[in-house]
Amino acid sequence: MSKNALQKIFQLRELLEYHNYRYYVLDDPEIPDAGYDRLIRELSALEAEFPQYQSDDSPTRKVGGYAAKTFSEVEHAVPMRSLGNAFTEEAVVNFDRRVRELLDLGEGKMEYVAEPKLDGLAVSLTYENGWLVQAATRGDGRTGENITQNVRKVLGKATRLQGERIPAVLEARGEVFMRTDDFEAFNRSQKKAGQKTFVNPRNAAAGSLRQLDPGVTAARPLSIYCHGLGHVSDRQPPPTHRESMEWLRALGLPVSDRMKTVEGVEGCLGYYRELLGQREELPFHVDGVVYKVSRIDWQDRLGFTARAPRWAIAHKFPAQEEMTRVKKIEVQVGRTGAITPVARLKPVFVGGATVSNATLHNREEIARLDVRVGDCVIVRRAGEVIPEVVSVVLSRRKKGARAFAYPETCPVCRSPVVYERGGVIARCSGGLFCDAQKKESIRHFASRKAMDIGGLGEKLVEQLVDNRLIRDVAGLYTLTPEQLAGLAGMAEKSAGNLVGAIEKSKSTTLARFLYALGIPLVGEVTAEVLAGRLPDLEKISHPDEEELQCIPGVGPIVARSVSTFFDQPHNQAVIEKLKAAGVRWPAPQTPSGVTDSFFSGKTVVLTGTLGMPRSEARNRLQSLGARVTGSISKNTDYLIAGRDAGSKAGRAQQLGVEILDESRFLEHLGRPPEKGPDGVSA
Ligand code: IVH
Repeated sequence: MSKNALQKIFQLRELLEYHNYRYYVLDDPEIPDAGYDRLIRELSALEAEFPQYQSDDSPTRKVGGYAAKTFSEVEHAVPMRSLGNAFTEEAVVNFDRRVRELLDLGEGKMEYVAEPKLDGLAVSLTYENGWLVQAATRGDGRTGENITQNVRKVLGKATRLQGERIPAVLEARGEVFMRTDDFEAFNRSQKKAGQKTFVNPRNAAAGSLRQLDPGVTAARPLSIYCHGLGHVSDRQPPPTHRESMEWLRALGLPVSDRMKTVEGVEGCLGYYRELLGQREELPFHVDGVVYKVSRIDWQDRLGFTARAPRWAIAHKFPAQEEMTRVKKIEVQVGRTGAITPVARLKPVFVGGATVSNATLHNREEIARLDVRVGDCVIVRRAGEVIPEVVSVVLSRRKKGARAFAYPETCPVCRSPVVYERGGVIARCSGGLFCDAQKKESIRHFASRKAMDIGGLGEKLVEQLVDNRLIRDVAGLYTLTPEQLAGLAGMAEKSAGNLVGAIEKSKSTTLARFLYALGIPLVGEVTAEVLAGRLPDLEKISHPDEEELQCIPGVGPIVARSVSTFFDQPHNQAVIEKLKAAGVRWPAPQTPSGVTDSFFSGKTVVLTGTLGMPRSEARNRLQSLGARVTGSISKNTDYLIAGRDAGSKAGRAQQLGVEILDESRFLEHLGRPPEKGPDGVSA
């Protein structure tokens, strides 16, 4: 047994050395932190069981990093250690108990300082007489790399300490990191420039800081927070960690303002839960929280183990990245025919849920990842975001794994796949002929924020389409309880309930109806806007693209999508069928105060140059209840003609449309309608 254990110990050490090298030297880790932590724990457990095989060389004892040979070396005056990890609340309880036992404090509550654990790169900053003289990475904890020039820009004004009573030598320790928004913008610009992108902010920060050319670092969006003190001369440092940090802040160094003093385990766990709840909103990646015994004299009494202080611990957040295997790659056909490749995964627990599918987005993403069936991949699930494949662990790729080929025909209806946006987006050309698109459009139509037909789930829609009971969304309104009762999972009562829900959905709002139609690019908000601005479906059915464009929040691309949708005879036919089935919404309400305006309910066309921008004229007319269109027809009430009015004026004359010049237009903008003797608007 112990021979096997020894073999396993050596294997694990070798593996961990490899991963340390990738993480610390190449800034290109191959496995997620959670996977690394598991390997460390496995090795620690074996070393604890077989103490005869312990060694100071083991990755469980060393801090992990390396001083790269390319930078000059710096010896740390006080070693830079790592932190012990707690993955459970129980581990935090044990940590606290041990602290109190070692200090012989009995049952009294310990005061801790709780801080975010930033996911960045540890640095040491040495100031002499207030000037930054040296900055170093942690390296192996004893010797680091001299990155003084690289850190200057990150520190900005803080290369010089402020205030009085600055000690002759002061070493501050902290974390260099990249804020999430900076990371995203940086990766975008790297991609645009055809340069290396990074898998996460931590690697981007490390890769940016450890650049031999400090000019490159200076151009990268790095930030820093200090979280501790190293060597300090001639001045007694403050008696608590919190005061030390406040002192650093007073000296002009950046310190996290999320640091909090807490009491006992309950205080620690309360802080943990609070920060975990805010995790997605924080402006930087945080992989846990750190609890530190507040009193420095107690920290000194507790001291260090080989690797970490006994007075502090990192309480890790649940991993958002995990490793698993790709079983299959399939393509899904969406409501508008968009073809999305999806990785079917060996289920893995990540970010608080079991994940067995991850989107591969599009062709570009597949090419970037080069993910293949059988690959070992890193999967990320953060907050409400759909799980994604972050990268492929290439060293574990099996021989003969074949690159994924995009389909040329739709896997559902066999129609040709067409490529848009330079080949990035693939779309099934089958339209509503494609069952997949049909099903998706019906599901969308029935969804809660659309027509809200409760009880019409995915399985049922599948059966309705597969059994040819309905051909489009309008078909829903022809279903009978008898037809439904024959379907799998449908009892007589539920069939009756569903028909009731379908009936009830007929009474809706225009915004919901527009959203339910599934017009590409028209989400709930746009549907609301459209319904508010064009409250009459007759007009929406033949919307004027130019008019649509002028609605705030619509714009040319959405306007084009809306008018293309309504131009399709098959869409018109479905709308007609829905109306005939009795789908209805309350009549439009004229905005209050608008009924009285000269322009209310009138159709107006603008032409020529006006004193105010065209868009303003349009908005003002619309706010007075007018409908502003782009071309003159017999339905037009007024043509407003500015200077240099062109052909539209001629056409207005032909059709007998009244022309208002600019001064009359302005008059009417500010004036209520003229009243005839009977009080009716003229
Ligand atoms: S205190 C003696 N506080 O996490 C060790 N470290 O996993 C003192 N880190 O090496 C470390 N945020 O680079 C401390 N608020 C924080 C931290 C923090 C991030 C890093 C630090 C450390 C590593 C350990």
